[in-house]
Amino acid sequence: MISRPGTKKPLVRQNLETRVHTLVTKRTVGDARTGNILVKGDCLAGMRALEDRLMEKIQLVYADPPYNTRRKGRDYDDDMDPGKWLTMLEQRAVACRSLLKPTGWFFLHLDANGLASAKLMMDRIMGEENFTFLVTWERTPKLTFLGQGASPIVRNTEFILVYSKNRKKRTKLKRLTRDMEATRKVLRQYNLEVVRDKGRLLIEEDGPSGKPLSVFEHDNFSVKSISHDKRLACFDRLYQSTRINPSSTLQSRLAKRSRQGHLYSVRYTPDRGKRAGREIEVLLFNNRQLWPAAENAFIRHGKIFRRVDISTLWTNEEISAVGISSQGGVRLIRGKKPEELLERIILLATNPGDHVMDPFAGSGTTPAVAQKLGRKWIAFEKSDSVEKLILPRLKRVVTGQDKSGVMYRNQEYAEQCFDYIDLPGEPLPGKP
Ligand SMILES: C[S@@+](CC[C@H](N)C(=O)[O-])C[C@H]1O[C@@H](n2cnc3c(N)ncnc32)[C@H](O)[C@@H]1O
Repeated sequence: MISRPGTKKPLVRQNLETRVHTLVTKRTVGDARTGNILVKGDCLAGMRALEDRLMEKIQLVYADPPYNTRRKGRDYDDDMDPGKWLTMLEQRAVACRSLLKPTGWFFLHLDANGLASAKLMMDRIMGEENFTFLVTWERTPKLTFLGQGASPIVRNTEFILVYSKNRKKRTKLKRLTRDMEATRKVLRQYNLEVVRDKGRLLIEEDGPSGKPLSVFEHDNFSVKSISHDKRLACFDRLYQSTRINPSSTLQSRLAKRSRQGHLYSVRYTPDRGKRAGREIEVLLFNNRQLWPAAENAFIRHGKIFRRVDISTLWTNEEISAVGISSQGGVRLIRGKKPEELLERIILLATNPGDHVMDPFAGSGTTPAVAQKLGRKWIAFEKSDSVEKLILPRLKRVVTGQDKSGVMYRNQEYAEQCFDYIDLPGEPLPGKP
């Protein structure tokens, strides 16, 4: 039974049993049943109706409700009273939470209008301790031409609240990186050219991860600073110097055993941090560590690029809403999200085969991307966008014909099917 966290009281008192019986599978698109489901109807009624099938099955909820911009739209209305909007969202968030696996994640996408009230509401429902990130997405570029638009400050950001269902049981979000051309400021850190011989083995022992750790001393070497314009040509010998981390017993122990003016290289496999499980080589020189530029950077098109972790600011250069109107071959006038945004979210929070659920599917971006990435999906949409946009889009995706947006990870993901369910019935309390 879908209920508020910590209570046995049903979320919606009205008896919905009859509605469950009227849930009919209209048709299956494709050859075989895969568990992918598109439901036309209010997502709250849909989640109640599918409760037995979906309870604690969902690894990721991505919810992108109307933001309550107070505008009437062509595809959907977005002008509810703010109190009613929040109640509508709260009831659906409670239902989503019930269907989430204990390991699962809830991403709620909003603009600045509802962010503050929705954050407090989500803290109550998901538990403040499960709030993990607030992502700011720079939807469009910062630059507009002078006089464009009525607002003196360009509104170009949206927000995603990220909650786990249970912080003790949640799966770790995946580590995703992005490639950035290294700026002059960044390259300034890579200011050493190191030339060295193969080295003499000095120490061989068990490293922190149980794998071998070897220390070599180099008799023939040079360490010299290098000018900016030579960095590209010397990339293989380019190093950055950082201080020894005093809280690392391994680094402090090796530093203590090293002599001033001598160069050592240490090969080992860290058991913690972003390099965990991968054999690395770091140099020790005059009580400093020297890290090769190639550890974090690479050359592309004759320029040095760095691989950096993504942050809570998802910039327009990384993911842009510009030019997405024809993605999936369908147009949603307002609120359509880039496939690249859903790709990032799905990759962060799920593995292939996991269930992704979108209660406010709009033009069907989430199911389209989930399908291309080999995830199972359940999507709800109450408007005619189901027939106009989602069905044609998903038919193209499952038959492998969609060539826009995110690429299929594996062609077999394009040969599957989904059930399409039309959910008749009266509107539920809290319906917009
Ligand atoms: C912002 S749009 C979602 C856009 C979508 N993420 C995309 O990329 O196309 C919000 C959608 O939620 C739908 N919606 C609003 N209330 C709903 C409800 N109670 N149940 C199901 N869908 C609902 C609207 O019709 C609209 O299509």
